[in-house]
Amino acid sequence: MPINRAWTLASYPSGWVTESNFRLIESPAPAPQDGEVLVKNLWLSLDPYMRGRISQQKSYAKGVEIGDVMTGETAGEVLESNHSGFKPGDMVTAPSGWQLYCCLKGELLTKVDASKAPLSYFLGCLGMPGRTAYFGMKDICAPKPGETVVVSAASGAVGSVVGQLAKAWGCRAVGIAGGSVECGYVADELGFDACIDYKAGNLHGNLKVACPKGVDAYFENVGGEILDTVLRLMNVKSRIAICGLISDYNATEAYGVKMFRSILVNRIKVKGLIVFDWLERYAEGNQALLDLVVAGKLKTRESVLVGIENAPRGLVGLFKGQNFGKQLVRLA
Ligand SMILES: NC(=O)c1ccc[n+]([C@@H]2O[C@H](COP(=O)([O-])OP(=O)(O)OC[C@H]3O[C@@H](n4cnc5c(N)ncnc54)[C@H](OP(=O)(O)O)[C@@H]3O)[C@@H](O)[C@H]2O)c1
Repeated sequence: MPINRAWTLASYPSGWVTESNFRLIESPAPAPQDGEVLVKNLWLSLDPYMRGRISQQKSYAKGVEIGDVMTGETAGEVLESNHSGFKPGDMVTAPSGWQLYCCLKGELLTKVDASKAPLSYFLGCLGMPGRTAYFGMKDICAPKPGETVVVSAASGAVGSVVGQLAKAWGCRAVGIAGGSVECGYVADELGFDACIDYKAGNLHGNLKVACPKGVDAYFENVGGEILDTVLRLMNVKSRIAICGLISDYNATEAYGVKMFRSILVNRIKVKGLIVFDWLERYAEGNQALLDLVVAGKLKTRESVLVGIENAPRGLVGLFKGQNFGKQLVRLA
């Protein structure tokens, strides 16, 4: 039996999450029971939502208990199967948690076609972050050709897909990201019309120049002052998808939006977005995103740490903007 290595939750963070909130344990890899599949994980996805799972605040999903394996999605290869839907060699994504091997009921696994795109993409632009961008754009932002779409955290897993969808659907795409290198990548490589560096100052002035006709749809990943700044530029009957508020995730006190008045005077439609709500339409999103990747119209960038021992460092880095693109850990 190979040895499994798994990160468990050692303590709940108070304020900023730190590497010491996790403990690495070793045990023999599990053996699959009836209906179960043994998966060797090759990639682990690190995502901002994980901060919410180790908070004791009420949220939309159950949190991780002390001593539990840390929650997370992986992509890997089936080693053994006691489920008729899977055979050794199949490539899958799995709600495995931060570990090298997992044994799960077949119903919890998703088979992926890694001949069409690299396996790791099924955790990023072809996985949960890509679907979040797709359904948030299609159903909440609902931009018409010619409209201006703004997205924050634009160089990241979700934001990079949002802007490329906006371009594919005939809109003006404007990103907000931290750093001149990130902004250069978003505009030059991903093809956004503009990308504004929020760390350089004068965000409002620069955004106003980049959005001469105002903002028709805003895809929010960050919250805080950035949300307040964009609210000042929203058009009448515009839309905002509240996808994430990452600037608040490690804060002991929430920021508190100041420009709420803009929602009233501009009759803005603001809607919270949790991607699970589109579960029944995942196939539609998966196919649309895969078609764009295959056609070369959806590019992605990955930030890869090597070795499961680096998972906590990668999670902490997400909240400090240390990733540049989809944050992954290569496990094998
Ligand atoms: N609702 C849902 O169903 C759902 C699903 C997936 C993701 N999300 C949310 O979508 C957002 C983006 O997720 P992702 O996976 O695509 O992550 P990501 O953008 O790949 O990585 C996080 C990025 O957030 C930015 N950031 C971190 N702290 C910030 C701060 N204080 N102010 C401004 N920017 C900050 C950093 O970018 P810079 O380098 O540009 O600062 C960092 O690289 C998150 O809020 C996440 O919770 C929601």
